[in-house]
Amino acid sequence: MPMVDLDGLDPNRIPRHVACVMDGNGRWATKQGLPRTEGHRAGEEALFDAACGALELGIPYFTVYAFSTENWRRPHEEVRFLLNVIADQLLTRRRDELHRMGVRIRFMGRRDWRVPRWVVRRMDEAAALTAANRAMTLTVAFNYGGRAELVDAVRAIVESGVAARRIDERTIRQHLYAPELPDPDLVIRTSGEFRISNFLLWELAYSELVFTDVLWPDFRREHLFEAVREFQARDRRYGNTPGVRDDGIP
Ligand code: IPE
Ligand code: IPE
Ligand code: MG
Repeated sequence: MPMVDLDGLDPNRIPRHVACVMDGNGRWATKQGLPRTEGHRAGEEALFDAACGALELGIPYFTVYAFSTENWRRPHEEVRFLLNVIADQLLTRRRDELHRMGVRIRFMGRRDWRVPRWVVRRMDEAAALTAANRAMTLTVAFNYGGRAELVDAVRAIVESGVAARRIDERTIRQHLYAPELPDPDLVIRTSGEFRISNFLLWELAYSELVFTDVLWPDFRREHLFEAVREFQARDRRYGNTPGVRDDGIP
């Protein structure tokens, strides 16, 4: 594995959890006169390189937004291609490579009737194969929506029969898709869009946000390092006065 140029990066302040909104595949392809689907294919390469970079930096949790609950609105052909890229390239071709690198692969999102059974099977296989890995946890948000996650949490809480006055923030957290996942310290969105698009609505309450113009297929580990550098220059206050604490929400 190549040595990381940690120049300017504080090894003691590496974010514990970095999440990425991988956006701009379609525009990347259109700019080159290619069909949008080629952007999705190229985006898979970017994801793999970014994951390698996260591993090099020693980021324990790396999460990527691969397909949103709203992405079903896209033309059928594009949706089908996206499912294929995720299931064929990421979960079959890359799976073993990620496994060898000690990466645990997990998924968060709804498993409703729209997700083909063969895709669910591939997700389960990848998760089972890599379950014991500890070098890094790669969480793929697939058929994920922040609002859907909160709806599902509320349903589960009501079904559990807990008394209303006993519900607090911890109760809600415990009913999210991945309760053990720490909140993201850093969220990166590519392609020059300044929005969240229904990603991790509960979890990113105090995340640092970094926006970059780079289109996702051009994203490489160096861009990740740059975002971490920007993260390290921020002063996280969690509502407190400046410079007092840097250790999370009380
Ligand atoms: C991100 O790229 C991939 C997904 C949302 C699944 P887009 O396909 O959104 O690309 P743009 O934003 O149209 O360029
Ligand atoms: C967000 O990108 C979803 C993913 C990256 C999977 P979109 O391209 O779907 O978001 P909008 O439509 O620009 O808000
Ligand atoms: Mg987009």
